[in-house]
Amino acid sequence: MDDAELQAAGSSTLTLGGAATVAADTLTVTIDEPRSWRNSVPATSYDRSVVRPAYPLVTARLKLQPFAAADFEDLYAINSRPDVTRYLYSEPGDAAQMREVLDQKIGESMLDEVGQRISLAVVRPELNRMIGEVHLQWLSWEHRQGEIGFVFHPDHHGKGFATEAAAVVLQLGFADLGLHRIIGRLDARNLGSARVLEKLGMRREAHFVHDEFFKGEWADQLIYAILDEEWTARH
Ligand SMILES: CC(C)(COP(=O)(O)OP(=O)(O)OC[C@H]1O[C@@H](n2cnc3c(N)ncnc32)[C@H](O)[C@@H]1OP(=O)(O)O)[C@@H](O)C(=O)NCCC(=O)NCCS
Repeated sequence: MDDAELQAAGSSTLTLGGAATVAADTLTVTIDEPRSWRNSVPATSYDRSVVRPAYPLVTARLKLQPFAAADFEDLYAINSRPDVTRYLYSEPGDAAQMREVLDQKIGESMLDEVGQRISLAVVRPELNRMIGEVHLQWLSWEHRQGEIGFVFHPDHHGKGFATEAAAVVLQLGFADLGLHRIIGRLDARNLGSARVLEKLGMRREAHFVHDEFFKGEWADQLIYAILDEEWTARH
């Protein structure tokens, strides 16, 4: 798609279950086509998409936007905590490591290649603080697969914020990128994360026993997933 086509693609407003509204600048020919058309196209021939949302994305209680240098303090406060990284592949980072992590996240605001990821800072507008993050990774073009993830500051756990923000990236994946299936992967002991995925309507599809040697011990991994038609039926 050249620049002129990108400009012409316009924007759309997406409503999530009546609770969240997302304004997305959608640069793909597939987004507003009837679902029957999209589903009838073989996976190998569906059009490649570019997703460049019109930020911020706004839900009932949250604002989602690309990371910026100003998020350093909040990002560090979250990811330097052992209770937060307990079931993440990362360890509590020092400030220098966190600056590298932030630099990478700042660049993750759009998708135009398989393997890329959108990482969004989740802000509570009344606090003007970044309380967490959600991301969407584009896993496969041919199979239209993606993966979501989320990390929030414990001060803000248990209020539904992760679920509310993760719904936005699921919507981006299905409506904007035209994905067919989106997964979530987690350590089987991470009950809060499993609950978020269940509240989003995702199905537990796999429980792998001791498939990873994780932080010094064997660990089980769960895979949750949801299909585009299942997501659409819920919203
Ligand atoms: C997982 C995480 C993002 C959830 O964030 P959150 O904002 O608390 O999520 P929500 O409030 O939307 O939902 C959490 C749900 O899990 C439940 N929950 C939390 N801890 C739980 C536990 N130990 N056992 C059972 N349920 C639990 C909550 O009660 C809530 O469910 P409810 O709404 O039915 O009561 C947060 O705990 C976190 O950041 N953890 C550290 C990073 C991490 O592990 N990320 C996931 C990697 S796969």
